[in-house]
Amino acid sequence: MSTDTLDSIVDSARRAFAGARTPADLENAKAQFIGKSGRITELMKGLGALGVDEKKTRGAAINAAKQAIEAALAGRRQALADAELDAQLKAEALDVTLPGRLRDPGGLHPVSLTMERIERIFASMGFDVADGPEIETDWHSFTSLNNPPNHPARSMQDTFYVDIKGEDGIAYNLRPHTSPMQVRYAHAHIKKHAKTVQAGGTMPEIRVIAPGRTYRVDSDATHSPMFHQCEGLWLGENVSFKDLKVVFTDFCRTFFESDDLALRFRPSFFPFTEPSAEIDIQFQSGPLAGSWLEVCGSGQVHPAVVRNMGLDPEKYIGFAFGMGPDRLTMLRYGVNDLRLFFDGDVRFLRQFR
Ligand code: PHE
Repeated sequence: MSTDTLDSIVDSARRAFAGARTPADLENAKAQFIGKSGRITELMKGLGALGVDEKKTRGAAINAAKQAIEAALAGRRQALADAELDAQLKAEALDVTLPGRLRDPGGLHPVSLTMERIERIFASMGFDVADGPEIETDWHSFTSLNNPPNHPARSMQDTFYVDIKGEDGIAYNLRPHTSPMQVRYAHAHIKKHAKTVQAGGTMPEIRVIAPGRTYRVDSDATHSPMFHQCEGLWLGENVSFKDLKVVFTDFCRTFFESDDLALRFRPSFFPFTEPSAEIDIQFQSGPLAGSWLEVCGSGQVHPAVVRNMGLDPEKYIGFAFGMGPDRLTMLRYGVNDLRLFFDGDVRFLRQFR
């Protein structure tokens, strides 16, 4: 066989290797030339039939061809490996110059904003801010507030009960209002100042608000089974309905940032206040102008409640009120469906950030 033919085998090997797109293709191509029955291997096998001299020259020529093919194979192998690595690097590329993924900053819930606002305004008028339990005894939620078992006034509040009985044998309730805080706070206040009183000093006035969650069996566009209230109590030796009017008017004007606001005290009934009033407000301008909006229940603390606080109703007198921060939030921001506050939709909540 001539060198020409050997050269052409090497050529076609080089072409086959160049055409191989994957390592597997390349191994197949290799087999055709230097594999067990490849073309070069077959030529080697034929050497045995030749004479010594011819075997030498022929053998050297075939060997040279084989080495050329092996070199081409190694080159192509390296090229394919390089290409593979390149592709992998490209696929896994990390662009460290890209901007980071920012996490949305959170914000306070609109009702929380209102609560904070209420607390700030009343604190500026010298009111303490107190917290109370949401699972209450029957006595604190009702009886201490002049609303004994079986009293018809209890049906004013459709109440959730807990499957645990208190010491009085009556089930605990999810407090339907923040009013139980009136007696609770008074007890704590009296205890706190007991030493002063024992030493002949006078007990400071009780001036407190108690904001928090409250619960009733109620659910529609303007009622949620969980809602918020903020109780207020001012009790002293000379606190009158006039003070309630001044405090609450001042509060509303500060809260809504408007002196252009009318208040109306409309006679009402609560077992724990006498006389009692619903407080309505009326905006004089803006989208809500004209109509009276109910924002708060209030009244002079009933003597029976003062007695349950452990105080003498002949000496201590004052007022209490209970307002709805959810309602105030709706009015302040122009929200018309209470349920939006409790759906947890970030598209809604983001607007108050
Ligand atoms: N607790 C009453 C309610 O939930 C509101 C209120 C509080 C009324 C204090 C008078 C005094 O409706």
